[in-house]
Amino acid sequence: MKYADTKFMKIAGPLINNKEFQKMKTIKHHDESVYDHVVDVAYHSYKMAYKRGLDWESTIRGALLHDFYLYKFDKTPRVRLPYDALKHMIHHPIIALENATRLFELNRKEKDIIVSHMFPARIPKFKESWIVSYVDKYLAVYEYYLNFRKLTSKKYREAYQRAQ
Ligand SMILES: [Fe+2]
Ligand SMILES: [Fe+2]
Repeated sequence: MKYADTKFMKIAGPLINNKEFQKMKTIKHHDESVYDHVVDVAYHSYKMAYKRGLDWESTIRGALLHDFYLYKFDKTPRVRLPYDALKHMIHHPIIALENATRLFELNRKEKDIIVSHMFPARIPKFKESWIVSYVDKYLAVYEYYLNFRKLTSKKYREAYQRAQ
């Protein structure tokens, strides 16, 4: 496991080891998997919540399940992409919540973290939800940046030219 933090792992472990949860490993998110993305978001949100004396347990659980939508998004034909992207943006938190409540017992805060992580689509009700929404966006920008760096790197450009 990437994050060897006992407190984090005590709460995250039971979710991460769930068979359905593991399915996120097969779904792509930018240049990694949704699984890697949610674990990163959960860890960094946990650090922020813990430092501020907030409910870090709910923060970890909500963050781990915030993108638990379990469908593949990259097979969409190009022309429909803007419409589907918008639909995905608005609906995936609701689908994630439905999947999560089917498998796990969640408190109000954890549910709010999931449905409101796409702020401004929905307004977060708790400080913990604001943290997860912030970390999710922050990491998304960072993941795009890494992807951009990879695509513009000399090694990648040369490989691309060779393939032409
Ligand atoms: Fe999301
Ligand atoms: Fe996310």
